[in-house]
Amino acid sequence: MLNSEAISPDKIENLQPAQELLGMGRITGLSQEGNLLIVKGEHGILALHKMSEGIIRIKLFPELLTTGNLDMTGTIAVVKEAEHHLPEIQETKETYLWETKHVILDMSKADCSLRFIDKAGNKVADNNLLAWDEKRAVTGTFTVSPEAHYYGLGEKTGFLDKRGERYEMWNSDVFSPHVPETEALYQSIPFLIVHEPHMAYGIFLDNPGRTFFDMRSQKDIYSMQTETGSFDVYFIAGPQIKDVLKRYTLLTGRMQLPPQWALGYHQSRYSYLSQDEVLQLANTFREKDIPCDAIHLDIHHMNEYRVFTFDPVRFPDPLAMTRELRELGIRIVPIVDPGVKEDTHYKIYNEGVEGGRLCLMKDGEPFVGPVWPGPSVFPDFTDDETREWWGDLHRFYMEAGIEGIWNDMNEPAVFGPTMTMDVETVHNNNGRPVSHGAVHNLYGLLMCKATAEGLQRNLDGRRPFVLTRAGYAGIQRYAAVWTGDNRSYWEHMAMSMPMVLNLGLSGVAFAGPDVGGFAFHASGELLARWIQMGALFPFFRNHSEQSSLRQEPWSFGPEIENICRDYIKLRYRLMPLMYSLFKEAAETGMPVIRPLILEYPSDSVVYNLCDQFLLGSHLLAAPVYRPGTTFRAVYLPEGTWYDYWTGERVEGRDSIVAQAPLNIMPLYVKGGAILPQAEPVSSTLMEGNGNLRLDVYCTGSANNIFELYDDDGESYAYEKGKYNLFKLHLLESSEAAEFSIDPAHLGYTGKWMQWTVHFKNLQITEHSQIEGLPDGGTVETDAGVLTLTFPQPKDNVRLRVKINK
Ligand code: GLC
Repeated sequence: MLNSEAISPDKIENLQPAQELLGMGRITGLSQEGNLLIVKGEHGILALHKMSEGIIRIKLFPELLTTGNLDMTGTIAVVKEAEHHLPEIQETKETYLWETKHVILDMSKADCSLRFIDKAGNKVADNNLLAWDEKRAVTGTFTVSPEAHYYGLGEKTGFLDKRGERYEMWNSDVFSPHVPETEALYQSIPFLIVHEPHMAYGIFLDNPGRTFFDMRSQKDIYSMQTETGSFDVYFIAGPQIKDVLKRYTLLTGRMQLPPQWALGYHQSRYSYLSQDEVLQLANTFREKDIPCDAIHLDIHHMNEYRVFTFDPVRFPDPLAMTRELRELGIRIVPIVDPGVKEDTHYKIYNEGVEGGRLCLMKDGEPFVGPVWPGPSVFPDFTDDETREWWGDLHRFYMEAGIEGIWNDMNEPAVFGPTMTMDVETVHNNNGRPVSHGAVHNLYGLLMCKATAEGLQRNLDGRRPFVLTRAGYAGIQRYAAVWTGDNRSYWEHMAMSMPMVLNLGLSGVAFAGPDVGGFAFHASGELLARWIQMGALFPFFRNHSEQSSLRQEPWSFGPEIENICRDYIKLRYRLMPLMYSLFKEAAETGMPVIRPLILEYPSDSVVYNLCDQFLLGSHLLAAPVYRPGTTFRAVYLPEGTWYDYWTGERVEGRDSIVAQAPLNIMPLYVKGGAILPQAEPVSSTLMEGNGNLRLDVYCTGSANNIFELYDDDGESYAYEKGKYNLFKLHLLESSEAAEFSIDPAHLGYTGKWMQWTVHFKNLQITEHSQIEGLPDGGTVETDAGVLTLTFPQPKDNVRLRVKINK
């Protein structure tokens, strides 16, 4: 801990005189070569690719190379290839214009500064200058309007809107409490969304070395700075944040549809110490009727922390354990760190050394750094062959009946002053050596790629689950992200909302914090509130550290246990919605949970609103995140809303006070919503009762479509058409409410044999008529709610309820 000495006068560094910076200077020539537009300046070159109609790539070469020597290799983050067809260049007196369908690039002849302009002539992104110092560290500054707001940037502390913040991109293992001034955490996603009053756009700086984003130091200007490597940016057009996100995830990829069990509740602890303890834990979940799909095994499952081993005394028969657990509907997710114990009697260490698969120092010796097993070596995941070797090592776990892996410490974390690998360490990079410092932020992503692909190769057609702590842009293609070592602080519960929401706006839809908090001690109240919130987060795992109070759902007595049970069950009740949203995320890049700004971009009240969020677009959660609080303000944007618990109708564009006793997390449903729900099961492995319930929230004038997706939840058969997709449409007029079900794709038997549609808030009378009820259907009216029940539709269903007042 620091004391005041930290700020004693002699600690203040003498300000260094400002360095002389170089810039492009005047444009001296312009040419198109292949799929490149080359802009030559007095002191450097800009090479441009058109990636798509709304994405332009600009790579700076701060030197006057001959054009044949421009290396346009990007990083593994980018999966989209540049287009071949280039737009024509137009010339005006002062500028050159390069026009794509969604954006015009305007380059100043005088100083090479760049402006992006939309088709309506609005200035979009205004790049003042690119400047570099003698070490080729580049700073790019952009001018914005005073009303600009910032989002994205991956996993960062602070609030939703990053205005007034500065962040560092350098994957770091930070155990000290994550506070607003923590500039770097485990993930680095150098992707910024700028929201201006008339449109939004994105900038992705594809540099996996140390970089900085500064939205603080200068008024109405933000800057991006590199330390090593190249200044390689992608401008991504909007006009809405949703458009930016779709394009960004086209560029860096989207997640694969995870197995459904990964969407269930996960229980973890550092550490469950033995096979017996794990089995007892699983049985307690079942005895207490608390759903659970996965138990995580932390580092104590290993033999002296050697990865790909089990401790023979504590875990004598892992396969027998996973078989017994499978009967209970529970899967095991063991931790795998990159540090391999330096031990000449250990097969994996020897294979690493002999196969030339380790990160080496300049002298050719393996980099050795201490982590849990003591001195350890680190696989060089930049080599394809090493990734394949590592991936296949997971057969060890697959043979023990395991389908999910937890990758930790993969920044990589090393116990030492720099907290990571020596930056001079050399990565072979498939024969194109590169220093660790230049690619540090890629290490975790490459490890996850090795893991995910290895699992895929060895799981006989079942979908893998990989969880990671470290990552870089594109990590969503390989792993879900948990936000590392938070604490059992109310502040950390609150911070996990903007953190996970911004991860979602950075392409990572599958994310969540350690629910209940990792370090320090949870209270029953904190756990209950955090479970309530976590139940709607994409990744839902309760994890805590060895010296903290236990925080399994029953650890604080029956009242808290009941609340935890109810909300974990709510998660399973909402599984049909969750799974459909995961499918949407996999297809479009839209996040599963969303900040309100994503759905209401012109409502300035929500620009920095991050103590509420939406699950999908129609379910709004307003968690309580302070102790002793039984009510809170909730902002409901425009439209009609319904209290999920009481059904009370509230008109939006206003804030209300929601009552929130300990057993209630305020939840609101937007008018027009079609909310699919199922009877909770104790695990996604268990068969449900076959009923699907659709709550249809009528308003009198709603018009809304929801796409309900389902498949077997664990194989890739859906890729061959074995899935069901139902397009559900609610259309209301003053005379009738029409609800249609279009089985747009029927390729899977399905688990919901019986469908029930509850029309809520529909003004029905004895004269109301119902048309279109499928054969075998029944009608019931209770307390004004009309309920229609029928077998799973095989054909179009068009239910029409004539109101006839
Ligand atoms: C790291 C992880 C934490 C894990 C611990 C022991 O601190 O972030 O989740 O429990 O290591 O493996």
